[in-house]
Amino acid sequence: MDVLYFWAAIGMIRGKVPRPVRGKEEKAVFSSIGFIGTGSMGGALARAVWRGMAPGTGLYLSNRTPAKAQALAGELEGARVGDNREIGEECSLIFLGVKPQMMEGVLKELAPVLAGRRDRFVLATMAAGLSCGRIRALAGGEYPVIRLMPSLPVCVGAGVVQYCGLGATEEELEAFAALLSPAGLVDRAEEGLIDAASALSGCGPAFFSLFIEALADGGVACGLPRDKAQAYAAQTAVGTARLMLEGGLHPGVLKDKVCSPGGTTIQGVRALEERGVRSAAMEAVLAAYQRTRQLG
Ligand SMILES: NC(=O)c1ccc[n+]([C@@H]2O[C@H](COP(=O)([O-])OP(=O)(O)OC[C@H]3O[C@@H](n4cnc5c(N)ncnc54)[C@H](OP(=O)(O)O)[C@@H]3O)[C@@H](O)[C@H]2O)c1
Repeated sequence: MDVLYFWAAIGMIRGKVPRPVRGKEEKAVFSSIGFIGTGSMGGALARAVWRGMAPGTGLYLSNRTPAKAQALAGELEGARVGDNREIGEECSLIFLGVKPQMMEGVLKELAPVLAGRRDRFVLATMAAGLSCGRIRALAGGEYPVIRLMPSLPVCVGAGVVQYCGLGATEEELEAFAALLSPAGLVDRAEEGLIDAASALSGCGPAFFSLFIEALADGGVACGLPRDKAQAYAAQTAVGTARLMLEGGLHPGVLKDKVCSPGGTTIQGVRALEERGVRSAAMEAVLAAYQRTRQLG
């Protein structure tokens, strides 16, 4: 992500940049979208959806502490604050943004509202460890469900979102992916792979933070000021990732391009290999995966 893009994204977060208008005026698959729970992740996704939705789409926000939904609605032009019931009655796509342990209570209250509907709607759950089938069971009906696994950088448009569906049509799944495209990389995955994806891209920002902080510490140890060391380390991570994602470079090829024979970088690579950096990274993902499976 370049600097301009980063600041544009931050501007979007603060509502200072107008919502981009999509070129095509086709009839939206989801005419109104609601968020129940506008905390860190619900709020970040609502911002992305706001940018991705077709003109004329309604956006409703509800949160246990209403001030949070009100503040977000103040940022997102056209968004309205509602309550859970209103969203359950009105919206054709309902994001469930509450913590997994709150889901049972929220859906218990919503179940009679959903049961009373005669029109089609889709439930979208981001709760770690809860399957589409479990959401259906808690909601009390064979409703179409989309399960998504987002990561924190969705708030700057550079996250990863995996998703899968149960009973959702191909058209709904495609519309869902388009809606979330401002969040970053949006990828369909089998439900059996969501926990693995969560251990990699959901937990990954913490792993990269550790590595970036450690590189910055190394820079400070070599005499760099802290702020510069951290900016250099973070930008190096962004640039390296962009070379892989945009340039299609394999990590091994990229590493070889930087390591000249007898040079400095290969000595750093030797030090990392001596201390088992690859094994540590693999074990981190596996440990997170095992914990996710325990919670599910
Ligand atoms: N954060 C991440 O990196 C991440 C990554 C992947 C998936 N997720 C998933 O995203 C979901 C939300 O996590 P989070 O980190 O965003 O948590 P969070 O910041 O605590 O947000 C949860 C929100 O739900 C609201 N809420 C609770 N009960 C409610 C109710 N009955 N009706 C309406 N709103 C209610 C809370 O309101 P209050 O303001 O009153 O507390 C809070 O704002 C979880 O299921 C989590 O597994 C999060």
